Amino acid sequence: MTIRISGTGSALPEMIRTNFDLEKTVDTSDAWIRERTGIGQRHIAREETVASLAAEACRQALSSAGAEAGDAELILVASCSAEMLLPCLACRVQSDIGAVNAAAFDINAACAGFLFALQTANAYIASGMYRNALVVGAEVLSRITDQSDRSTCVLFGDGAGAVFVQACDEPGMGMLGMVQGSDGGRGAVLQCRAGHYADADNEAFPFRDPYIHMEGGEVYKFAVRTVPECIGQALLQAGLEAEEIDLYILHQANIRIIEAIAKRLGVGMERFPHDLERVGNTSSAAIPLLLDELHKSGKIQRGAKLVLSGFGAGLTYGACVMRW
Ligand code: UT7
Repeated sequence: MTIRISGTGSALPEMIRTNFDLEKTVDTSDAWIRERTGIGQRHIAREETVASLAAEACRQALSSAGAEAGDAELILVASCSAEMLLPCLACRVQSDIGAVNAAAFDINAACAGFLFALQTANAYIASGMYRNALVVGAEVLSRITDQSDRSTCVLFGDGAGAVFVQACDEPGMGMLGMVQGSDGGRGAVLQCRAGHYADADNEAFPFRDPYIHMEGGEVYKFAVRTVPECIGQALLQAGLEAEEIDLYILHQANIRIIEAIAKRLGVGMERFPHDLERVGNTSSAAIPLLLDELHKSGKIQRGAKLVLSGFGAGLTYGACVMRW
């Protein structure tokens, strides 16, 4: 038993912040941001919350699958920017959409969070414990980004994406390969302190503000080395070659990272769709946001072979191969 995605949804805040807007607030330029990252604009939440974005993405995913909120048996929300510690985001989403029959909890694996949540849903459903799940990636990173720090504020954006997955026992369909891993010893490379721990001593994490601090170059090198390796392992499990995959849906951190990964895999960039020009790096929301766009525009058809791969703070990384 494995899972197949039967519906997708997404939500973006109304307000857009362009590179030109950022030129007015920090020492940067549209040319630098585009050249170094590929990002042109990002959505920034004002009225919207992580929970409201996640709930809207879930409603769409259910409707796209032809399912009702009451059908959902499990809700997993991946996020690293929830506004509340308690209750968890997934419980708030459960209440907002009226999914009264679901068990709900959060997963935080930063930018690999959605992928980890999808693999968790797969494990639950393969065990027979549940028959379906809503899997969500939702972030309001603008709240944990120092908007005066040009090394991070040009990268991150807000949004949410969700999928509704169901048990699948059709041979050769659904999840065909799964890899995940963590390198906690390198946690200091990308960190953000919880606001209420501003006074606590912690030698490993010296920054005392509640904002993201990143050694960008280190994360870049990690992604370019680790992602092709773990995609290779997932392909091996699936018994597929890199060129047999129709679309590679990667975490949207930097177009140069995506290009480097494509090159290492020996696959043309036309198989690596991207939306970071329009939404920036939305952490755990990046993969499901892009999945929803591709699904809604008819670019993913039944039978399509996909690779999903994410990496981020932790450090965490993972990949899966699936047949739609
Ligand atoms: O979501 C998962 C986690 N995040 C990532 O995957 C991000 C991975 N890393 C990256 O995408 C890239 O490392 C960055 C986009 C963050 C940075 O690009 P880079 O090519 O590694 O640039 P850099 O950090 O080496 O900086 C080059 C120069 C520096 O100036 P000097 O020292 O050469 O004079 C920076 O101070 O660019 C400067 N710089 C900027 N200039 C204009 C840094 N940020 C900016 C900026 N505007 N926003």
